[in-house]
Amino acid sequence: MSTSFTPRIFSGIQPSGGLTLGNYLGALKRFVQKQDEGIETIYCLVDLHAITVWQDPERLRHQTREAAAGFIAAGIDPKRSILFNQSQVPGHAQLAWIFNCVARMGWMGRMTQWKDKTAGKNAEAESLGLFAYPSLMAADILLYHATHVPVGEDQKQHLELTRDIAIKFNHDYKVDFFPITEPVIEGAATRVMSLRDGSKKMSKSDPSDQSRINLTDDADTIAQKFRKARTDAEPLPETLAGLKDRPEARNLVNIYAALADMSPEAVLADYAGKGFGAFKPALADLAVAKLSPITAEMSRLMADPAEIDRTLGEGADRADAIAQPILARAMEITGMIRSRR
Ligand code: AMP
Ligand code: TRP
Repeated sequence: MSTSFTPRIFSGIQPSGGLTLGNYLGALKRFVQKQDEGIETIYCLVDLHAITVWQDPERLRHQTREAAAGFIAAGIDPKRSILFNQSQVPGHAQLAWIFNCVARMGWMGRMTQWKDKTAGKNAEAESLGLFAYPSLMAADILLYHATHVPVGEDQKQHLELTRDIAIKFNHDYKVDFFPITEPVIEGAATRVMSLRDGSKKMSKSDPSDQSRINLTDDADTIAQKFRKARTDAEPLPETLAGLKDRPEARNLVNIYAALADMSPEAVLADYAGKGFGAFKPALADLAVAKLSPITAEMSRLMADPAEIDRTLGEGADRADAIAQPILARAMEITGMIRSRR
């Protein structure tokens, strides 16, 4: 028994901090490519996920608008893609509740992101929402019957869980209702690492601002951060194999490749034998050339927050129109009465 679903792309980013170069290369840049391939694309600022850890309300509002500006500045066209913030479409929270009753505690407890976020801390004191986070993520995706989800490497396990939830729902209720979603993890920068520590991913929540490039950083800051990025003393090798035990060097090569739309091999062909004294300034120039227009457009858009809110509202209406019949059917399948009022 297998139903075919119309290809539809969904992805989300948390507005829990400013967007980073990791978000840009691992997610945003690829969201734009998908939009331009002509498949239906739905992109969501997941504010309900953001509050699984404490968010100052005014900051959250600001960061949600800034992330929306970042999406548009990077090339998401809100006419062609649907762009909205999660909390405006109530179906996300409603379907998540159903999934909370499908998913098992043990599944959640095995999530490495949960384990990482609670490592060395008292898990008992974390929010219940943080534990259930992946169930809400499954709801985000399945509320639209999305078939493909472009993300960075760190989200792979959450997408496997999304498949498990769809499979268990379909099995328990003897339906073929939710699609088995495919993760789309591709390109040279599916895991951009911290500029201070090649074993940690670049993250908006890292306490050190030097560890990341923010999409709001100006040209001097970008150049300075790459100049100070941790590296080793060796010149760049001729082949990728030569980067094996050099995580910081490999990270900078991957960033260059992703920004320039080149393969890492081609970058090494250009820079083999050269040291970081030559490579870092070239990388900084490339990053500034690619990111500065986005930064400038973001700040232009941020001058008119009401227009951003209007765009998000229109996106939410379009998202809701797709979500409503799917949610209604899910409720019917689970045995809930839905009388027309
Ligand atoms: P988040 O900022 O955690 O909401 O992540 C939003 C999207 O950006 C997800 O698809 C992540 O996989 C991706 N992402 C976040 N950080 C990185 C990174 N350092 N490298 C590659 N992709 C990333
Ligand atoms: N958990 C994702 C992250 O932190 C964000 C997210 C929420 C998401 N819902 C989603 C990504 C649905 C893809 C699809 O990166």
